[in-house]
Amino acid sequence: MNSTCLFYAFWTLAVLLTTCQHGNAEECKSGMYPPQGSTFKGVVPWYTVNLDENPVNRWDAVVKERKNELAAMVQAIKDLANNLFPSGKLMLLVDDVLPLMLDTLPYPFNQEILGISLASGVPVGEILLFNIFYEVFTVCTSVVAEDANGTLYHARNLDFGLLMGWNHKNHSWTLTDELKPLAVNLDFKRNNVTVFKSTNFAGYVGMLTGVKPNMFTLTMNERFNIDGGYIGILEWIMGKRDGMWMGFLTRTVLENATSYEDAKSRLSLTKLLAPAYFILGGNQTGQGCVITRTRLIALDVYEIKLKLGRWYVLETNYDHWDKPFILDDRRTPAMRCMNKTTQANISPKTLYDVLSTRPVLNKLTTYTTLMEVSTGSLESYLRDCPDPCSPW
Ligand SMILES: *[C@@H]1O[C@H](CO)[C@@H](O)[C@H](O)[C@H]1NC(C)=O
Ligand SMILES: *[C@@H]1O[C@H](CO)[C@@H](O)[C@H](O)[C@H]1NC(C)=O
Ligand SMILES: *[C@@H]1O[C@H](CO)[C@@H](O)[C@H](O)[C@H]1NC(C)=O
Ligand SMILES: *[C@@H]1O[C@H](CO)[C@@H](O)[C@H](O)[C@H]1NC(C)=O
Ligand SMILES: *[C@@H]1O[C@H](CO)[C@@H](O)[C@H](O)[C@H]1NC(C)=O
Repeated sequence: MNSTCLFYAFWTLAVLLTTCQHGNAEECKSGMYPPQGSTFKGVVPWYTVNLDENPVNRWDAVVKERKNELAAMVQAIKDLANNLFPSGKLMLLVDDVLPLMLDTLPYPFNQEILGISLASGVPVGEILLFNIFYEVFTVCTSVVAEDANGTLYHARNLDFGLLMGWNHKNHSWTLTDELKPLAVNLDFKRNNVTVFKSTNFAGYVGMLTGVKPNMFTLTMNERFNIDGGYIGILEWIMGKRDGMWMGFLTRTVLENATSYEDAKSRLSLTKLLAPAYFILGGNQTGQGCVITRTRLIALDVYEIKLKLGRWYVLETNYDHWDKPFILDDRRTPAMRCMNKTTQANISPKTLYDVLSTRPVLNKLTTYTTLMEVSTGSLESYLRDCPDPCSPW
């Protein structure tokens, strides 16, 4: 980066920090559900993905309907990359070098990514870049809560696009805007029976949010760390490939794990490319946890403990034993609203209220998902956050 770039980056940050002030400390919302009003942008449409189909073709239906939006998203990433590195060398690298990486990815993900490229007409290196993005740029809020009858609910806001181009005219993030039209709900079937459901982005083959009916619910939040995602991906490119891609692990767990305990142990023990938080809910009382991961192991597993009065676990993007970053405290307001709701009144409806309270809801929030394991239900809503609203 040259000095003009650096200056621009600091200036953007300064503008954001000023904007940030008005967004904070909103009263806990109520009566937001069913979704309506200016923070609700629409429902997320459903598609079926048939796991019995050849991996190269199984995304065809989704991608064919979303290829214009996918092309627009990839173009937005390219524009941002070319602004940062005006020589255009970064995108040359993406188009020339990344395709070589395809063969190093495990089956069936390599075939699926190839199929998405073929169906959309977007070069394979750029689809790969889109898939890598989630390994490093997702901030979120996830919560698993147990009601007074022992029913478990799992809800999340997916926040994406931090520091990826701020639109000064209408105060929105470029990539967050581009991403919303790509949101899809997926029903993954084998032998015509649902294996799991997920809220996802067309073109991405990993999983960030999902439910395996009657068994478990799972979300992933980014964990920032020095030993972070970039290093793991660089190592992968250099040939050190013993870690698993985070999105591939969550997908594999949703497809293949046979119980809450099985999912918990796979998520705790598998070596990863990037650190992460896995938020897992089960199908019985007490089964809800936040797994704090380094690339190698689970540092900590924080569980629902009714005896201690802990009827929910909530994770944003900071280790639960540390204070959140002072400019990004979504945890305190979210917990304040959970506590105010009380266990007696927790439900998908009141969870939607908590996730609609600024700054838990912010300019990066793309969708809100509500899941209930015992019914296998998954509902997702696209979100907007009109001013005054925190940029993150
Ligand atoms: C718990 O179950 C009882 C009896 O089925 C029902 O009346 C009550 O509404 C339930 N409470 C909650 C919080 O779901
Ligand atoms: C902001 O403006 C851009 C283009 O000018 C548009 O694509 C985007 O949808 C707008 N975002 C919001 C939240 O209105
Ligand atoms: C798949 O299941 C649905 C109902 O769940 C049924 O209507 C449909 O006929 C089935 N299709 C096949 C090919 O078995
Ligand atoms: C919970 O999951 C286990 C493991 O898959 C299963 O055996 C059990 O029947 C499930 N319980 C309920 C209430 O769905
Ligand atoms: C919410 O309640 C828990 C458990 O009583 C408590 O530890 C926590 O400090 C409370 N948080 C807020 C923000 O009220």
